[in-house]
Parts: sequence; C-alpha cells; structure tokens
Amino acid sequence: MNFNGNIYIPIRFPVDREMLYPLWDAVELDLHYEYQYRREVEQLNALSVGIGGGKGYSARALLQKPNLIPQYCRGDVLKHLKTVFCHEVFFNNLRPFYDGLEMPSGKFKDAICKGFGNYAGFLYEFKENALRMQGSGFVWALADSRSGEVLIDTTTGYEIPNARYHILFCLDMWEHAWILRHRTSVSTYIDGFYHILNIGKISDEYEDWYEKRNKRQAKESFKKTAF
Ligand SMILES: [Fe+2]
Repeated sequence: MNFNGNIYIPIRFPVDREMLYPLWDAVELDLHYEYQYRREVEQLNALSVGIGGGKGYSARALLQKPNLIPQYCRGDVLKHLKTVFCHEVFFNNLRPFYDGLEMPSGKFKDAICKGFGNYAGFLYEFKENALRMQGSGFVWALADSRSGEVLIDTTTGYEIPNARYHILFCLDMWEHAWILRHRTSVSTYIDGFYHILNIGKISDEYEDWYEKRNKRQAKESFKKTAF
C-alpha cells in the first residue's frame, strides 16, 4: 500500500477471517493482523509527520530509497516499514482454506518445473528452507530479475530480500504466526500454509512481471545495438 500524504494506508485483509480455518481461527488471525500489522502501521503513521509523508511512495519503494527519509528518524521509520512490508506480502497472497492444492500455471509453472522438477519439488524445498531457519524471520519465493528463475531464500527478523529479486510471496515464520494454534508443530503450520496460498494470483502476477521484464530487456538491447 502507499502513503497518502502523511498517512500510510493499511491493506484490507484479502479474505474473510473465518475462511482460513483450520490454519488459524478468526481470533488468532485478528491477533496477527491487528496487533502485529496494524499496530506497526499506526506507529509508522505516528512518525510520518517527521518524514513529511511518503509522497505516494509504496513501502518497498521507500525501503529501496531510504535517503528519501530524513536521517534523524530514518532508523525508526525503516524498522516499521520493513515490518509492514513483510506482513503485506504475506497477507496479500492468501486465499480461503482449500483441502486440495491449487497448482501453478503458465510461465510460473514452467519456471517451477525448470528449477525444482515439479510443484511438489518446489514445496519440499520451501519447507526445508523454513525448517532450517534459526530464530524468527520469513521464507521468500523470489524471481531473479535477470534470468526469471524462481528461487527460495530466507531472511531473519524483518529484513527484506535484495532489490535485484522480484518478490512472489512469503511465509511468516515468527512464532506469533503459528504457535497459538500449532504449538510445537511448525511443520503442520507450513503444510497448512500451502492450502491457503493463492497460487492462481501468484501465477498471473509472475506472468505479468515476466512479460514486462522481456519487453524491458528487448528495449535495452535495442538501445545498445541502435547507438
Ligand atoms: Fe507476523
């Protein structure tokens, strides 16, 4: 979401809270959305007077250009922005719980098959990365901006992936995301996440990004050969 003047506008949760059961019930989700996400937006807005508003910038755009934020409050603003950004990527790619697995399609499916053999191979690697994490953080599905290759990475705390990667989706591995319902079984939480992951939307967005990237590369290549 963007800054509107001095105020950062929080995202609406993309599905009815009841529709994510049994991964979370509505109360557990409220704790996550209201207390971990909305509270950070409020703290960010309390500071936004200090940055004179984000002038229409999105969270990621400001994270990529931190010099736009006055130095005296840059550290605090970035801290809240990172927390907000990670949660928005996580929440925005969820869909109602579905017993089966939604499958990737189009160019995203091709990239998954090229990198991991098939979708099951991708999910296996994603889970392995999640289980190897030490401490709180996020697991990310990314696309390499140069090659289009899909890859998996992890970050600690609320750090975000390098700007050279296009972000597809992420999994929140902070305890507040899973421990209330799943107790000691983080493995059950990761498996359940696959049933609320909006792979149809992610496939469409990857395809859109891939086509734009192709056009941009063709344009750059033309400029190089034309002059
Ligand atoms: Fe979280």
